[in-house]
Amino acid sequence: MEIKSYLNKQRDLVEQSFDSYIPATEGVFRDHIKALRYSLFAGGKRIRPILCLAAASAVRGETATGNDLLPVACALECIHTYSLIHDDLPAMDNDELRRGKPTNHILYGEAGAILAGDGLLTWAFDLLSDTAYGNLEPERRLRIIHVVARAAGSLGMVGGQALDIAHENTTFPFETLQTIHRSKTGALITASVLAGGIGAGADVQQLAALKDYGDQIGLAFQIVDDLLNATATTEQLGKAAGSDIKLGKATYPAYFGVEETRTLAQATVEMAKTALSNFDHKAEPLRLLADYIYTRSH
Ligand code: IPE
Ligand code: IPE
Ligand code: MG
Ligand code: MG
Repeated sequence: MEIKSYLNKQRDLVEQSFDSYIPATEGVFRDHIKALRYSLFAGGKRIRPILCLAAASAVRGETATGNDLLPVACALECIHTYSLIHDDLPAMDNDELRRGKPTNHILYGEAGAILAGDGLLTWAFDLLSDTAYGNLEPERRLRIIHVVARAAGSLGMVGGQALDIAHENTTFPFETLQTIHRSKTGALITASVLAGGIGAGADVQQLAALKDYGDQIGLAFQIVDDLLNATATTEQLGKAAGSDIKLGKATYPAYFGVEETRTLAQATVEMAKTALSNFDHKAEPLRLLADYIYTRSH
C-alpha cells in the first residue's frame, strides 16, 4: 500500500460525508455557520479522522470499516479545527495564516472566531451523541464520547494549551516539555485512535496497544510540528514558519537542537510501530501513518 494514495482515498471518504453532518449556511445563524465552515473546509490533512478509521480497520479489517465511524471521525476533526481557530487568536499564538489561508479571526473578527470555535466544539458532541448518525452500539458510543471529552478538555488538549502559553519564554525541565506536547496535541490523537478501536469492538489488550501507539504518534506529531516550524518555509506549511522561536515556545528544537530532535521523532515513531506488534496486516495503515507522521512535509 502506498501512503499517498491511501491518505487521498481516506480523505475523500471523510470529505464526502462531512458536509452533510455540518449545519448548512442558511437561516438566522448563517453568518456564524459560514465562519465555522470556512475553517473546517480550508483544507486540513484530516489526520485524526483517518487515524480513527485506520484503528477500526486494524481491529476488524478494512471491508467492515463503514459509515458507523464516519460521524465520530468528523467530530474529531471539528474539535481539532476549533483548537486551531482558538490557537491562532491574538491572545494565543497570534497567527494570520492557517492551511494556506487567512486565519478565522482575520476574516470574521475575534468574537466571530471565538464563537466559530465554540460552535465546532459543541457540534462535535452533538454529532457524537446523535443516534441518527452512525450505527454504533449505545455502550460503545458512550465510551467514545467519554474518551473524546476527556482528551479534549482540561486534563488533555485544553490543559496542554494552557501549559504551552504559561511556559512561553521560561525555562523548565524536559518532563514539562513532554507533558505540554502529550497533552496539547497527543491527547486528541490518542483519543482518535482509541475511538476507532472502541467503535470496532477492540478487546482490552488491543485497546492498550492502540493507546500506546496513539501516545507515541501523538507525541511524535507535535515534535515534527516543532521541527517543521523551525526548518520549513511558510509556503510549504501554509502557516507561519519560524513563529515558535519568536514567541519563545516550548519546543523540542529549542530544547535539543534540530538534529537530536529528528532522531527523537524517529525513535518515537519506531516505538509506536512496536506497540502494534500483536496486530496483523490489518494494522498496515496504522504503521504507514506512523511513518508518514515522521516524513510529512507540512
Ligand atoms: C496542526 O495540526 C496543529 C497541531 C496540533 C500540531 P495538523 O498538522 O493536523 O493541521 P491540519 O489539520 O492538517 O491543518
Ligand atoms: C497546536 O500547537 C496545538 C493545538 C492547536 C491544540 P501549535 O500552536 O504548536 O500548532 P501550530 O504550529 O500553530 O499549528
Ligand atoms: Mg499554540
Ligand atoms: Mg500555534
